[in-house]
Amino acid sequence: MPHFTQELLSLGTALYYLTAFLASSTVLPSNDAIKGVAGQYLLGLGIGDITGPVVETNMMGYASLPQTDTGLHMRQRSRAFIIAEEANPQTVSFSLMQVNIAMGDTGVRRSIVANLTATYPDMFTNDNIALGSTHQHSGVGGYLEDLLPQITSLGYVAATADAIIEGTVIAVQRAYESMASGSLSVGNTSVVDGNANRSPSAYLANPADERAMYEYDTDKELSLLRFDDASGNPRGLLSFFPVHGTSLYENNTLVSSDNKGMAAYLYESEKTPSWYDGTRCHAGNNTFVAGFTQVSDRVLDSLGAYCESPGEPYDGMLCAFNTSTCGGTVEDCHGRGPGFRISDFASNMIIGQLQMEGAQTVMNSDNRTALSGSVRSVHIYMDMDNHTFTLPNGTTVHTCPPAMGFSFAGGTTDGPGAFDFIQGDNSSSPQNPFWENLYMSVFQWYTDFVTPAPSEAQVACQYPKPILLNTGYANLPYKWSPNTVDIQMFRIGQLVILVIPGELTTMSGRRIRQAIRAELISYEGASTIFGQYTLDAYIDKYTSLVPFLADTVTGTPASDAAPAEQTSKAISLQLPVVFDAAPFGSSFGKVKTDVSTTVPYTAGETVFATFVGANPRNNLRLEGTFLSVDQLVNDAWVRHRSDSHPSTTYSWVQTSTALGTSQVNLTWTIEDGTPSGTYRFVYFGDSKPVIGGITAFTGESSNFTVS
Ligand SMILES: *[C@@H]1O[C@H](CO)[C@@H](O)[C@H](O)[C@H]1NC(C)=O
Ligand SMILES: *[C@@H]1O[C@H](CO)[C@@H](O)[C@H](O)[C@H]1NC(C)=O
Ligand SMILES: *[C@@H]1O[C@H](CO)[C@@H](O)[C@H](O)[C@H]1NC(C)=O
Ligand SMILES: *[C@@H]1O[C@H](CO)[C@@H](O)[C@H](O)[C@H]1NC(C)=O
Ligand SMILES: *[C@@H]1O[C@H](CO)[C@@H](O)[C@H](O)[C@H]1NC(C)=O
Ligand SMILES: *[C@@H]1O[C@H](CO)[C@@H](O)[C@H](O)[C@H]1NC(C)=O
Ligand SMILES: *[C@@H]1O[C@H](CO)[C@@H](O)[C@H](O)[C@H]1NC(C)=O
Ligand SMILES: *[C@@H]1O[C@H](CO)[C@@H](O)[C@H](O)[C@H]1NC(C)=O
Ligand SMILES: *[C@@H]1O[C@H](CO)[C@@H](O)[C@H](O)[C@H]1NC(C)=O
Ligand SMILES: *[C@@H]1O[C@H](CO)[C@@H](O)[C@H](O)[C@H]1NC(C)=O
Ligand SMILES: *[C@@H]1O[C@H](CO)[C@@H](O)[C@H](O)[C@H]1NC(C)=O
Repeated sequence: MPHFTQELLSLGTALYYLTAFLASSTVLPSNDAIKGVAGQYLLGLGIGDITGPVVETNMMGYASLPQTDTGLHMRQRSRAFIIAEEANPQTVSFSLMQVNIAMGDTGVRRSIVANLTATYPDMFTNDNIALGSTHQHSGVGGYLEDLLPQITSLGYVAATADAIIEGTVIAVQRAYESMASGSLSVGNTSVVDGNANRSPSAYLANPADERAMYEYDTDKELSLLRFDDASGNPRGLLSFFPVHGTSLYENNTLVSSDNKGMAAYLYESEKTPSWYDGTRCHAGNNTFVAGFTQVSDRVLDSLGAYCESPGEPYDGMLCAFNTSTCGGTVEDCHGRGPGFRISDFASNMIIGQLQMEGAQTVMNSDNRTALSGSVRSVHIYMDMDNHTFTLPNGTTVHTCPPAMGFSFAGGTTDGPGAFDFIQGDNSSSPQNPFWENLYMSVFQWYTDFVTPAPSEAQVACQYPKPILLNTGYANLPYKWSPNTVDIQMFRIGQLVILVIPGELTTMSGRRIRQAIRAELISYEGASTIFGQYTLDAYIDKYTSLVPFLADTVTGTPASDAAPAEQTSKAISLQLPVVFDAAPFGSSFGKVKTDVSTTVPYTAGETVFATFVGANPRNNLRLEGTFLSVDQLVNDAWVRHRSDSHPSTTYSWVQTSTALGTSQVNLTWTIEDGTPSGTYRFVYFGDSKPVIGGITAFTGESSNFTVS
């Protein structure tokens, strides 16, 4: 049910997207200097590990019940960026936590804000803290406070939420401790091969004269904010590029960072000089911080979407253009990333690399614009249930409580709609029994939880989108989806950043950016969950807040009430770890399948070993690792790779639930340029006995040779 996610994107507080642009010089003072003026701002950058339980937990993004994690490819991280005016060091006006998760929500934000405002009462406020997600689809799920996104994770998973909150707070602490004077500059470049429109048929339904204003059906600019220290040396970057942060498919069950996290890893590892010296080789243990943000809903399958239907006449052909179907159903239609002949992991690397190289181009260019001037923030809550406002043509309109259309269940070419809904379908009755069964079986003992039938007023307000799930009226046992959204804007000198509670299509992004008011056509309207005036309401509200970014601000903007807390009511059906045991005659960490000790390995080969394991949910090993690839250097073992390098994987499988036994597999695919020598695997585990506390153990493979 991939489109579940697309719809969640519009769920208001469920998500935070960013768009950034330079305000025109008539609005804010502009400065054409090439290099930043040192010492103008106080800057802080930090990074933290937020990886939740890597096994037995549903993954977030595709909202697919079978996509339960079985191990780790790369850790998820939060990256924090703090900007204050040097002249007013007590007041931070911009702090962004760029979080490598599918989406943030008010619940996660509330906990982070509570911690930071208590720890640093002079620096952080509800207004100057922003949470941005990379919108990846390969991370650990269960952390959102509303019920709808919890359905496939069997409720709320506190371990995931706690890891995200703690790791993000640590990232901010590190950023705070690193605060020092420096300068900022912005620039952009084109990354032409890095994205494609995810619904090209829907794009064509935009007015022709509006489309004629643009060369491409997606935006190709990668914009970047560069952070320099007082001597002009780079400390980090925050980049904005419109590609869906989703390269890994729905059938992947290894927790990973997807393409935005890959781009960040590639950039940070290159900037960390002693990466191979064994102290810094732990990926994520760096001070140069590279944030790659999600700016809108562009897909990565740059080659288009094809039918994978062996035996059918349409096998290998492009999917039907308007509906993304093969033979009338969506299951076989798959978007192809640039590495599709190899794997989705190869596409992930290519898309990550393209963004990393685009960022490098801007970082190294000599035409960036230095930022100077005030730092300002404004934040309000907006209740979208019945937000009444006046369109530019004088007509008063209102939004409506959220509802999901039928086309939300149809999926996109990133991942087909598993429940056989069709993209762009308007029909009012594909009440697919599979979908009904899904939530009925998950919550079968709460048979009243079906969403209430929509009233005539709700049907009219949501028109022309037919209602599949009337979530705005579903409050049992707690809210299914948020009705109140966060509206937030920042100004850093000439740069304006909008934090937008929804996922925008290409043209919506352009419209909001240019504040062009235009009618949303019905296709794209399917993801306007607060009714057809959702985008207009946002444009109206953001525009009205611009005065609060001025150099001199008087008063505070009117805000609706903050949405009520609901994690305390959360249902959680995930079972705790019962116990771990090693098979009779064996012990935790013992090698089951060893590496090859006779034949040397070479670059491109994968080294593999398995161990007697224990459940990794016993200890998330945040800021640590489940594995190490050690190299023998001057008769001492030095860490060469950890569990967060893209070249390694960690996977776990329960071999007997009754006996509590399990197995861990480690792999390392040897990269080009790996020094020849002697290596070994070390596995770090934690076991839970029937009685007593959790204890750590290690396992080691035999030594092996890389030639
Ligand atoms: C904030 O979070 C950090 C990291 O988890 C924790 O050590 C600290 O006690 C928390 N502080 C408050 C005030 O909640
Ligand atoms: C890219 O930079 C140029 C030159 O500063 C500017 O005119 C243009 O608007 C920028 N594009 C975007 C998308 O920010
Ligand atoms: C600025 O330089 C970058 C990198 O050389 C280039 O891609 C971009 O087009 C330039 N922008 C302008 C507005 O000249
Ligand atoms: C696809 O939709 C476009 C309008 O968006 C329409 O003009 C065209 O006829 C449709 N094609 C098919 C094959 O249905
Ligand atoms: C995942 O799905 C893709 C697309 O159908 C397929 O090419 C790939 O082999 C699958 N991967 C696994 C591990 O099953
Ligand atoms: C991170 O790097 C520092 C300094 O280079 C080192 O002391 C520390 O042990 C490293 N941490 C990890 C988890 O590798
Ligand atoms: C929405 O608000 C308007 C004006 O504030 C009011 O007239 C209307 O009855 C409200 N509609 C609903 C469904 O509450
Ligand atoms: C104003 O625009 C809306 C939305 O496009 C439209 O429904 C309405 O009829 C227009 N009102 C007038 C007076 O033109
Ligand atoms: C869906 O409804 C809209 C508005 O009624 C119409 O323009 C569009 O063609 C319909 N799409 C399909 C696939 O029937
Ligand atoms: C681990 O490797 C074994 C082969 O030795 C395989 O049968 C098993 O499925 C693998 N387990 C996982 C979790 O990848
Ligand atoms: C692996 O190499 C280390 C260091 O030379 C040595 O101490 C150890 O005995 C070797 N292990 C095996 C199993 O040969």
